[in-house]
Amino acid sequence: MSSEPTSPRVVSRSHELQSALKGLRRSGQTIGFVPTMGALHEGHLSLVRAARRECDTVVVSIYVNPTQFGRGEDFDRYPRNLEADMRLLSDVGVDWVFAPTDAEMYPEGFDTWVQPGRIAERWENEFRPGHFRGVATVVLKLFCMVGPDRAYFGEKDYQQLLVIRRMVEDFNLPITICACPTVREPDGLAMSSRNAYLSPEHRRQARVLSQSIFDAAERVASGERSPDNLVAAMRKIIAEASDAVIDYAAVVDPNTLEPVSAVTGPVQALLAVRIGGVRLIDNLRLTPPSG
Ligand code: PAF
Repeated sequence: MSSEPTSPRVVSRSHELQSALKGLRRSGQTIGFVPTMGALHEGHLSLVRAARRECDTVVVSIYVNPTQFGRGEDFDRYPRNLEADMRLLSDVGVDWVFAPTDAEMYPEGFDTWVQPGRIAERWENEFRPGHFRGVATVVLKLFCMVGPDRAYFGEKDYQQLLVIRRMVEDFNLPITICACPTVREPDGLAMSSRNAYLSPEHRRQARVLSQSIFDAAERVASGERSPDNLVAAMRKIIAEASDAVIDYAAVVDPNTLEPVSAVTGPVQALLAVRIGGVRLIDNLRLTPPSG
C-alpha cells in the first residue's frame, strides 16, 4: 500500500473521478473514501490517515451539503476554505479530492431521497428534522460516484454513523464502514468544525460536555447502574456553564439508540448542548466492569 504523501488531484465532476478510479479498481487497488464538508481538523485527518494506512487509493470529498441543514441553521456561514483544506490533505497524502458543485450533486429535476428509519427518529432528528434524510441521500450519492471499498466516519457523529451503517446494510452496498474514535482537544472538547464559532468564553464553557460524559464513564466504572442518576449528574455538570442549554442528554443502547432502564452492559451517553447559541454534540461509550 502506498504511504508517500502526494499532492491530491482535485476534480469537481463525478464522471472525471469515475473514469480516473475505474482503471485503479480494475488493477485491483482498494479505494478508501472520507466524506467531509471541509473546514478540516485533526478529527478529519485521523479518518484520512486510517484510510491511507488501509487502502491503496484515498479519496476525500469536500462538499457542504445544503440538504442536511434546516431552515435557520448555519449553512450560509459554515466555514469554507478549500485552500487550507488542500494544504492539510497534501500533508497526509490524499490521492483525489472530489469537490463537487451543487449542480453536480443536485442537478435540476433531482427528486429521489433516502429516508432513514427508526435509528434516525430520535435525538438529532427531534432538533434537526430532515437532517439525516439529507445526510443519507448525499452519502449514498457520494458512494455511487466514488465506489469505495471502505468509507471512514467519526464516532463523534454517533447517530450519523449508525444511520450510514443501517443504509449500507439495507441497500446491500459493498462498502465496509470504518468508525474512527473521536479526536479531542487537550481539555477534552471533541473536535468539530463548529468549535470555530465559539467565543473564547464559550469555548471555555464548552468543556462541560466532555467533562459530563467522562464523569458518567467513571460513575459506571465504579458501580452506578441507574441511567436516571447518570443523566442527572451529566445535567448538573453542564449546568455549571452559565450559557449552556441542553437539547438532550441521554444514556442509550449503543446499537438501537433507545433509552435503557438499567446499565447492564455497554451503553452510550449522548449529548447535544448549545453554548451561547453554538450547537455541539458529543458521546461516549460507558462500560460497566465485567464480572
Ligand atoms: O459528517 C459530515 O461531515 C457530513 O454529514 C457528511 C457525512 C460529509 C455528509 O455531508
